[in-house]
Amino acid sequence: MSRRVRKAVFPVAGLGTRFLPATKSMPKEMLTVVDKPLIQYALEEAKAAGIEQFIFVTGRGKSAMEDHFDHAFELEATLRARGKDELMEGARNSIPPAGQLFYTRQQQPLGLGHAVWCARHLVGDEPFAVLLPDDLVDAKTPCLRQMVDAYEGRGGNLVAVMDVPREHTKRYGVLAVGADDGRIAEVRGLVEKPDPADAPSTLSIIGRYILQPEIFTILDAGEKGAGGEIQLTDAMAKLIGRQPFHGLRFEGTRFDCGDKLGFLTANVALALARKDVGPGLREALGRLL
Ligand code: UTP
Repeated sequence: MSRRVRKAVFPVAGLGTRFLPATKSMPKEMLTVVDKPLIQYALEEAKAAGIEQFIFVTGRGKSAMEDHFDHAFELEATLRARGKDELMEGARNSIPPAGQLFYTRQQQPLGLGHAVWCARHLVGDEPFAVLLPDDLVDAKTPCLRQMVDAYEGRGGNLVAVMDVPREHTKRYGVLAVGADDGRIAEVRGLVEKPDPADAPSTLSIIGRYILQPEIFTILDAGEKGAGGEIQLTDAMAKLIGRQPFHGLRFEGTRFDCGDKLGFLTANVALALARKDVGPGLREALGRLL
């Protein structure tokens, strides 16, 4: 039996330079898709997968996220006084129970591997999930729930994967694949951001991982990889052969909200699916196009 995944790490210390000037004083993870910040989508996804402890690896200028998951007494009192109980409940329900949120700082943005390593003492010696909030996955069964279900009984390390056009492999960690049943692929190798000509496949990792704590021992070395950053992919590659390692082709649509076009597409797609703004947006788009 694999050990239950109770903890999730949210690396949110990146500078978000692709969204400047919006991200000069506001964290990228607070950008909203329709009316909810990216970080809240990620936290709700983790909650739906049974996660009980939420570990944020933050950095300077990211305190808006801490405030977002706390009570806003003035706002709540005002909404109550105006009889807007539904809105007040909505604001309240976004707050996880006390004692389940943890924050640590990555003092310098040295890479995703380094950000995850910063959470090592909070994770301890147990399997854990990693969610990158700028990857938004719209799915009937939340992506991390699909992963936890696939992980139970299988154990080891599991990453969410999707096929990308070969010319895009340079944006992703890419798998060398062993046994593959069309849904779950055995990972034989991993390469970070390969040139299309060198990519071992087009099966690419998105920002959802279930990892074993041994990854921290590898990350202790602080080895730099692609772009001079401490890469999570390089550390994961060293676990292959030592522990089971699989890629899950999740069901759902992933939007790369770390990129302007992906972010705008997510807003349009999720808004069109909503009863309140969907019909109006459809009309407005019709006029614009
Ligand atoms: P990105 O590669 O999207 O980098 O990081 P970024 O700095 O956030 O954004 P750009 O490229 O400058 O626009 C992917 C995820 O890893 C986190 C980011 O916060 C994001 O969730 N990250 C990255 C860290 O927490 N620390 C790092 O050192 C690097």
